[in-house]
Amino acid sequence: MILFSAMSKIELLQSVPLFGDLSESSISKIADQMILRSYSKGQMILMEESSGETFFVLGKGAVKVTRMSDDGREVILAMLGEGDFFGEMSLLDGEGRSANIVAIEDSESLTIKRSEFLAILENYPKIAINLLEELTSRLRRSDQQIESLSLSDAEQRISITLIRLAEELGTIKSGAVTIRNLPYQQDIANMAGTSRETVSRTLKLLMEKGFLKRDGKALIIKDFALFRRQFT
Ligand code: CMP
Repeated sequence: MILFSAMSKIELLQSVPLFGDLSESSISKIADQMILRSYSKGQMILMEESSGETFFVLGKGAVKVTRMSDDGREVILAMLGEGDFFGEMSLLDGEGRSANIVAIEDSESLTIKRSEFLAILENYPKIAINLLEELTSRLRRSDQQIESLSLSDAEQRISITLIRLAEELGTIKSGAVTIRNLPYQQDIANMAGTSRETVSRTLKLLMEKGFLKRDGKALIIKDFALFRRQFT
């Protein structure tokens, strides 16, 4: 485990939208309560149904949020990247973890205990509002995913999944969105409710149509606004 200095924990928290607008002294108080943990790619960070005692802020890397279907398939609910948080649900409702969290890159997160997390929400209403805002946008994305899974057209389901990945993990520049370290095709298939082979064929097709291009491990959606109009 790498030990970060108090200073870099503060810098990390300052870059996290959840803690935006907080004074430096408040951030520093919160940073003091947080512990840095490292995970390697592929490592399970949280297990579905286990009891929840910790809240996580992802400082570096990326994770997938998954559940197992009854027939043993992995269903991917979301991908989370730098600056995102997870583990709040079981701390808020006292139930078990609602999903698995698996690192898809080497990752580092800051963690905090349940009692301290709940105290922060009571003491800093702005953080509670930021949390609600993010939970609302997760609900909207889930609503969208439910809708897209009912579509019969695999190309459209995969495109909607790419839009989601672009929003969750991508960076935008001059209208183009780059998804650095595109997740495995099997993961994209598990998000879109289709097979890896169909993902492979569809990505090729979307490249031939000029919507996408590859740059090593990265995928670039050349004109994100156009792509969105085309498929949503
Ligand atoms: P918790 O239930 O404590 O543990 C699993 C975590 O996965 C959960 O908290 C949320 O932080 C996260 N999670 C569950 N469902 C979703 C979703 N649909 N989108 C994003 N994150 C989720």
